[in-house]
Parts: sequence; structure tokens; C-alpha cells
Amino acid sequence: MLSDSQIDVMIDQQTLEDRIAQMGKQISVDYDGKQLMLVGVLKGACMFMMQLSKSITIPCMMDFMVVSSYGNGTVSSGNISIHKDIEENAEAKDILICEDIIDTGRTLEALRKHLLSKGASSVKICTMLDKPSRRVVPVEVAYSGFKIRDEFVVGYGLDYGQLYRNLPYIGFVRQPE
Ligand code: IMP
Ligand code: MG
Repeated sequence: MLSDSQIDVMIDQQTLEDRIAQMGKQISVDYDGKQLMLVGVLKGACMFMMQLSKSITIPCMMDFMVVSSYGNGTVSSGNISIHKDIEENAEAKDILICEDIIDTGRTLEALRKHLLSKGASSVKICTMLDKPSRRVVPVEVAYSGFKIRDEFVVGYGLDYGQLYRNLPYIGFVRQPE
């Protein structure tokens, strides 16, 4: 466990939530007249998706998935194991995958293909944070909150050993000097 003194603020709550509100407004314009379905990747994207959804002014569905990059999940799709799939019908929906952070890009690329194979009209990606310098698999990102440097971050859904998801800001773990 980290002590609070090891976590520094990278993006404060106001800055983060102002940007998320902008993203929600843009999504409302871009998806007007479409069958928008937000799909959150649990657990990390939960807080981001809930905040984002409050700024979306058009009707939208919500669903969630639980995936892991490897492990003993139930359905294997590319490099990921799907522990929980969406429950709603994806057919003819315009799906926006909501993620906490894109790192290597492996998870999202596999997820995108999986949702397209279920008959979605379109599948785009909306992420709170992006670490472009870490990308291994190219990912087309439609909405990105903040591009950040390659630091391990916590808060606003992101964890370190399952802790710190509840911090209302993005913090980074300060390395000992
Ligand atoms: P990737 O893009 O497939 O490598 O995986 C991204 C996932 O790794 C995210 O959804 C997070 O769950 C996790 N992750 C990547 N970077 C961080 C970080 O800095 N802090 C916490 N979780 C991270
Ligand atoms: Mg995640």
C-alpha cells in the first residue's frame, strides 16, 4: 500500500471534470440521431463513464464489460479474456467504448473487434487518459481526455493493487528519491 505522501496530483478534479463535460457535449452533437450505447470497461472506467454520461444530452444506453489481457476467462477474443460480456443487443447500435486509460492498446483493439462481430453499426473509443508513448497496437481513438506522460497513475477509477480508485483526481506515484 502507498502512503498518501507518495501520490502527487497530476490532473486536479476541476480540470478533469471540465474536460469530461466538454467530451460529453461533443459526443451529444456527434451522435445526435444515432443509437448511442456506452460500454464501460469495468472496473477502471466506471467513474469516468458515469461522469461523462451526466454531460450527454441525447438518449443513450449503457452496458459494461469485464475483460483481462490474459488469464482464465470464459471467452477468449484475440489477446483478451472476456469475463463479462455486454447484456444488451449490440445490433445496429453505435457503440462508444469508455476506457480509463489506453496503454499498449491491446485490450481496446480486441474489444473493438469483439463488439463489431456482435453486429454493432459502429464501434468507437472514448478514453479519459492516453499514454501514447506506450502503444504497441495502433488504436484509433475518437475522444481522448488527456494525453499523459509515461507515469503510473491512480484515481478516478484507476487502481494500484485495487486501491485508490475512489480518489476524485488523477494522481501519480512519486518514485522515492
Ligand atoms: P492496455 O492498453 O491493453 O495495455 O491496457 C490498459 C489497461 O491497463 C487500463 O485499462 C488499465 O486498467 C491498466 N493501466 C494501464 N496504465 C495504468 C496506470 O498508469 N494506472 C493504472 N492502471 C493502468
Ligand atoms: Mg481498464
